[in-house]
Amino acid sequence: MSVLSMFDLTGEKAIVTGGGQGLGRELALGLAEAGADVAVVQRNLELAQKAAEDIRKLGREAIALRVDVRQPADVENMVTQVKKEFGRIDILVNNAGVSGWIRAEELSFEEWNRVISTNLTGVFLNCKYVGQEMIAQRKGSIVNISSISGFLANHPQEQSHYNASKGGVNTFTKCLAYEWAKHNIRVNAIAPGFVGTPMLKEAGDKMLKEWASLNVQKRIGDPSELKGVVVFLASAAASYITGHVLIADGGYVIW
Ligand SMILES: NC(=O)c1ccc[n+]([C@@H]2O[C@H](COP(=O)([O-])OP(=O)(O)OC[C@H]3O[C@@H](n4cnc5c(N)ncnc54)[C@H](O)[C@@H]3O)[C@@H](O)[C@H]2O)c1
Repeated sequence: MSVLSMFDLTGEKAIVTGGGQGLGRELALGLAEAGADVAVVQRNLELAQKAAEDIRKLGREAIALRVDVRQPADVENMVTQVKKEFGRIDILVNNAGVSGWIRAEELSFEEWNRVISTNLTGVFLNCKYVGQEMIAQRKGSIVNISSISGFLANHPQEQSHYNASKGGVNTFTKCLAYEWAKHNIRVNAIAPGFVGTPMLKEAGDKMLKEWASLNVQKRIGDPSELKGVVVFLASAAASYITGHVLIADGGYVIW
């Protein structure tokens, strides 16, 4: 296999959660550019449909589905629908996520649950139900979108629930890599630093400048810079890599 053909995803069937905006949209387009047919799933159906249209313009097949990743019934239905249309699921990208800033002593039970149920339980549910299909077909590659927040305490903002959710994703990724290697399934994660998406831009210019100053490249990443990373981990180019959390952060965590 030549090196460039290792990155080729032609004919592969992928799901990207939260794929209608921000990072997820870029990841879905990146997989499609590499040849995959993509199911874009998220709470907002209109955004998913728009991303699906753009994927079809690339000559790939696309499905748009309304899915709340926190709801087991939604995730089970997603698997049924995608299998019906695509026949199988080769790649799962768990990207859907929410954030929030609040001091731990003021963090309510509800706010804790909102973030953990989306960022961690949502990853578990999608891995579980899609994983069952991948086990049956003896093939699969899962890429969980974690964060550098899974390795450290963010600052200056306080967001312990978000960081805890991403730390959980990192460890869960390694556990699944161990459990499912025997089924020919690889499970990896990407830990982005600060990337210019709607989630991040909500914080305003002052915070964006501050965060940019915290990495050695002195800039916020562009969502498109993660496309190559997801294609690499999803593809045969990473065939000997499992249980890895790949940091893509402009050098935030190195100092
Ligand atoms: N932007 C960053 O700097 C950054 C850094 C590190 C990690 N991340 C992670 O990247 C992922 C994408 O973040 P983003 O910056 O693009 O944010 P975003 O808010 O722009 O997009 C998040 C997407 O997830 C979807 N979503 C949220 N809750 C959902 C649910 N319950 N069910 C289905 N879909 C749901 C939203 O509809 C949206 O499409 C998240 O997991 C986030 O934690 C982002």
